[in-house]
Amino acid sequence: MMKNIIGVAIALCMSITAFGWGQTGHRAIGKIAENHLTKKAKQALKEIMGHESLAESSTWMDEVRSDNAYNFAKTWHYVTVPKGMDYHSAEHEEKGDAYEAIGRMKNILKNVESTKIEKMEAIRMLAHLVGDIHQPLHVGTGEDRGGNNVKIKWFYEDSNLHRIWDSGMIEEKKMSFSEIAELVDHPSDGISQEIASSTDLDVWVKEAVELRPQVYDIGDRDYLSYEYMYKNWSTVKTQLYKSGVRLAQILNNIYE
Ligand code: ADE
Ligand code: ZN
Ligand code: ZN
Repeated sequence: MMKNIIGVAIALCMSITAFGWGQTGHRAIGKIAENHLTKKAKQALKEIMGHESLAESSTWMDEVRSDNAYNFAKTWHYVTVPKGMDYHSAEHEEKGDAYEAIGRMKNILKNVESTKIEKMEAIRMLAHLVGDIHQPLHVGTGEDRGGNNVKIKWFYEDSNLHRIWDSGMIEEKKMSFSEIAELVDHPSDGISQEIASSTDLDVWVKEAVELRPQVYDIGDRDYLSYEYMYKNWSTVKTQLYKSGVRLAQILNNIYE
């Protein structure tokens, strides 16, 4: 009985806290990145990760979230850029944020003195965080916990704006991560190859900030469903595509 209650409580907590893209989104990003790696980068990854794919690596940061040993990384999943500011003029999380952590992981991978274990964790974190920072609500205003406090109904069920961007819209498609990867992995209208493969985090963060008006244009909070999905699905696809290509580009640059 007690076990059941605890189980339900844990399940409830997990469904309330929104982490990053859900598993499907993160894995699709990992898979897209794999499609864009150079031979050299693939070989280097194989030496560090063995048979662990980027799709698999990409969700590890969420798997260790309840492990106290990784409390130091709790604030690394997002960045805060208040309205009217840019990343550099904003105040940063004391323990680091996604922007800063991505830079740190790149340095670990480039440093010849890093151990294999350090590099393994850095790949897992990089694969996850490049995805997270492309979820527009992971670049928060600092006012509503990245939309977690914006309570809405999603297909008549209680949810919040953050959660439908992490997973609600993607799960609604009822596709596997490889199907999503295949659906998304081609240049979408109007993005140049240069932008798609940009490794400039200032560009990434600015894009997310510029998506805000569209993301917060929610109309009646009690009836979000197909219409919101219709207006935003191409953005979800573009963000997944860019995350994958950009993750690959970072790795290709490190292993030139
Ligand atoms: N907590 C505070 N801001 C957040 C954000 N933008 N995304 C996820 N969790 C957060
Ligand atoms: Zn995350
Ligand atoms: Zn999230």
